[in-house]
Amino acid sequence: PLVSLRQVLDHAADYGYGVPAFNVNNLEQVQAILQAADATDSPVILQASAGARRYAGENFLQKLIEAAVKSYPHLLIVMHQDHGTTPQVCRSAMDMGFSSVMMDGSLREDGATPADYDYNVAVTREVVQLAHARGVSVEGELGCLGRLDTGVGEAEDGVGANRALDHDELLTDPQQARAFVAATQVDALAIAIGTSHGAYKFSSPPTGAVLAIDRVREIHQAIPETHLVLHGSSSVPQELLEEVRRYGGELKPTWGVPVEEIQRAIRYGVRKINIDTDLRLAMTAAIRRHFALHPAEFDPRGYLKPAIAAMRAVCEARYEAFGSAGQG
Ligand code: G3H
Ligand code: 13P
Ligand code: NA
Ligand code: ZN
Repeated sequence: PLVSLRQVLDHAADYGYGVPAFNVNNLEQVQAILQAADATDSPVILQASAGARRYAGENFLQKLIEAAVKSYPHLLIVMHQDHGTTPQVCRSAMDMGFSSVMMDGSLREDGATPADYDYNVAVTREVVQLAHARGVSVEGELGCLGRLDTGVGEAEDGVGANRALDHDELLTDPQQARAFVAATQVDALAIAIGTSHGAYKFSSPPTGAVLAIDRVREIHQAIPETHLVLHGSSSVPQELLEEVRRYGGELKPTWGVPVEEIQRAIRYGVRKINIDTDLRLAMTAAIRRHFALHPAEFDPRGYLKPAIAAMRAVCEARYEAFGSAGQG
């Protein structure tokens, strides 16, 4: 059934595991995620960005989710709005039947300009009031995602120019997190501890810790009832990059967040782990491979079936690694 994010993450907290939240834009992604969750008996968080709603159209997206819930009635499924930029976006997601919304008030309405703390509190609180009255969960965000090594903070999702920041600005402050949760009553909070969106996270292989794990623990101690969320959590598997390149793709050298780092973050209180890039890479690698090996192919089912299988393999690996397998 369709359930709230709060329900799924409360259970994850009680039993000490994390749940990957995969971005969806189309049928094949939804099928891959649900097949993997079914095979591993995991709760499911499907999330759609504003870009996904533009790409698929909200009616199609809504029906894809409904189809997932109907086809897998035995699985717990959360339908989550990713990076809502305004209360209106969150309201329309609730009207579409989403069981969870993210109000990302760390940025202004354009989704790129950093917002001040008071603005963030005001819009997030407004969404929580609307959402909780309807049994819908809310994720907020406090802090600026970005790389701790270079000090480059992102204007989210590649919109706008990246900015140079002090190390401290790239880490969510635990005391501010406590005040933010008290003022807004969010169910979950996205924190900045060194992750960033997209394929290009680190320009050399990670040696040792790439995330500020101590900061996760400090934030968790400050807001123990609030579920911590890690955006930008793709691991950017080297074998997928190599496959894309082998079959004609051009990707620069890059590294993602090691799965072991995420497992450590889960031990210290992270419960929702956002992944989009890894499924994009898996789909692209499989389709490129298929076209290279079968140049005469022109039935979309011929290349989309291996794409589903490749995404499903990534999802199963994350369900197992984060401990949500067997918890459905
Ligand atoms: O956080 C962003 C997600 O990767 C979604 O990306 O806005 O291109 O759909 P998108
Ligand atoms: P990745 O780009 O690392 O997959 O992160 C996705 C994300 O945070 C969606 O909100
Ligand atoms: Na932010
Ligand atoms: Zn994100």
